[in-house]
Amino acid sequence: MCGIVGYIGPRQAYPIIITGLKRQEYRGYDSTGIALINPTLKVYKKKGKVAELESAILGEDVKGNIGIGHTRWATHGEPSDRNAHPHVSASGKLAIIHNGIIENYAQLKTELLKKGYQFNSDTDTEVLLNFIEEIKNNTNCSLEEAVRIALKRVSGAYVILLLDQDHPDTIVAARKGSPLVIGIGKGEHFLGSDATPMLEYTKEVVYVNDYEVAIIKADELILKNLGNERQTPYITKLDMELAAIEKGGYDHFMLKEIFEQPQTIYDCLRGRLDAEAGTITMSGIQKYADQIKNANRIVMVACGTSWHAGLVAEYIFEELTRISVEVEYASEFRYRNPVINKGDVIIAISQSGETADTLVAIENAKAKGAIILGVVNVVGSSIARVSDAGAYTHAGPEIGVASTKAFTAQLAVLTMIALKIGYEKGTIDRDRYLRLLQELDAVPGKVAEVLQSHERIKEIAEKYKDAKDCLYLGRGYNFPVALEGALKLKEISYIHAEGYPAAEMKHGPIALVEETLPVIFVATKDSYHEKVVSNMQEIKARKGKIIAVINESDQLSPTLANDVILVPEADEIIAPMISVIPMQLLAYYIGVAKGYDVDKPRNLAKSVTVE
Ligand code: F6R
Repeated sequence: MCGIVGYIGPRQAYPIIITGLKRQEYRGYDSTGIALINPTLKVYKKKGKVAELESAILGEDVKGNIGIGHTRWATHGEPSDRNAHPHVSASGKLAIIHNGIIENYAQLKTELLKKGYQFNSDTDTEVLLNFIEEIKNNTNCSLEEAVRIALKRVSGAYVILLLDQDHPDTIVAARKGSPLVIGIGKGEHFLGSDATPMLEYTKEVVYVNDYEVAIIKADELILKNLGNERQTPYITKLDMELAAIEKGGYDHFMLKEIFEQPQTIYDCLRGRLDAEAGTITMSGIQKYADQIKNANRIVMVACGTSWHAGLVAEYIFEELTRISVEVEYASEFRYRNPVINKGDVIIAISQSGETADTLVAIENAKAKGAIILGVVNVVGSSIARVSDAGAYTHAGPEIGVASTKAFTAQLAVLTMIALKIGYEKGTIDRDRYLRLLQELDAVPGKVAEVLQSHERIKEIAEKYKDAKDCLYLGRGYNFPVALEGALKLKEISYIHAEGYPAAEMKHGPIALVEETLPVIFVATKDSYHEKVVSNMQEIKARKGKIIAVINESDQLSPTLANDVILVPEADEIIAPMISVIPMQLLAYYIGVAKGYDVDKPRNLAKSVTVE
């Protein structure tokens, strides 16, 4: 959470930073700020989105060849001008931006207050900055040295970038737990929480590691650990084009990303799945195939939408591999002293690869001897790097805050892993294996077919946009899809929504059903279909409004439903990748009909790098 951007080199820093911040707004958009040195330190900051700061300082002389910028998702202190980053130190010479949380800030603040420091904000960040300045002044050391000393006393997660007015040729940066990418140009350097701010300038980047401090000049990058030992920067080539982070004619990134899914699922399968030859090639997984086959259990660890992908995968893995699977919220798993035995397989699922809870959960599990497999979208991200092996989802940058294309790509990867392990283990026969490969191969085409119904889904969205509550029901493989549908609606349209296993409805939620309640059934043909249709009858008997996502061959459901969305038939294992598309479109169109900013829903941020 929070996006950070920096630049040092011969160009004007301001336009690079503003553009970079706009690309990183998905990480938070409560307030925005920029600091430049020219020749003195100047700070511009404001509550609100990047465009609001941009208009507020229009016409000002925002020049300088060194600068840092921040887009905030508030943790300590409400969103306001005074809590916006950058913060300036007591001397007025140092400026800082920070992504993360300094957990022991209260203790540091008490120490500083005793020394007479005053604070202009409620943030942990301003405390850290003055703590660094206090060390710098007391020990008469360089900023870099003061940062190193300070960070040894700090607990929490951070990426920090600092400017020092007395050294206008250097940015000092450090990281632990939050991401930091440095782009290497010719005589210039770019910094970002991800690589998007530097895409048009360089394809060579360094992902800074935890506990490293970077001393960045226009023509020099030095990395050191907290013990002051030089580290070798490992340069990686970026495989991302500018077009991938632009809207490409769509009104919103979310809509673009929903419509990209035939391509992203195809990209995810490409080079791995060969339905004709009957093979699945996944080198990362192959390396650990024996351990996975022999594992007593697999634990899926994730948050939010990725956790829903884990739930679908639980059904798929148990069916195909006969290995017992547990699905854990990373935030619970990391704190409850879970039983982890050597050789347990943990699958971490994450779009961003930076979710703090998931990251720490797998670090803990790894320390106890578990094998960590990552199913991650962002290449080079922290979770990908901590994992022993895994498979990237190759969905491309997901910018809309609500996750869409990442979910279907996660399902595609997880299904391939389960098929590969199940087949090698002998828990599925060759016929079924080959049939499922064919089915998987057909998913991009079927998703494209569902997308053609978007006008119909838009009409349904108009009809139900004023609902106060919604119930989403499904059974088996479609139960997690119901959960995902409810989550999408909540976050985009701010309508209260609950996902439930359809049969559980009778144990409580059915009390909510009345004439005004829309109930969305994810009811594609599967082993439980007749049972779901009975649940539909029960809702109809209580006058709830039924929206049914079903297959064309289903004759009965249309007689019960008020509105029907047809999706192509697929094996029940494959169906969630298809039946989730109407869930995404419905939430999107309801959010738009209500006039909300669907790409940046209130209170949310895409990359949850704080716990
Ligand atoms: C929902 C959503 C979140 C994320 C969750 C995990 O639309 O985007 O629930 O799924 O924060 O994020 P990742 O997958 O990046 O670990």
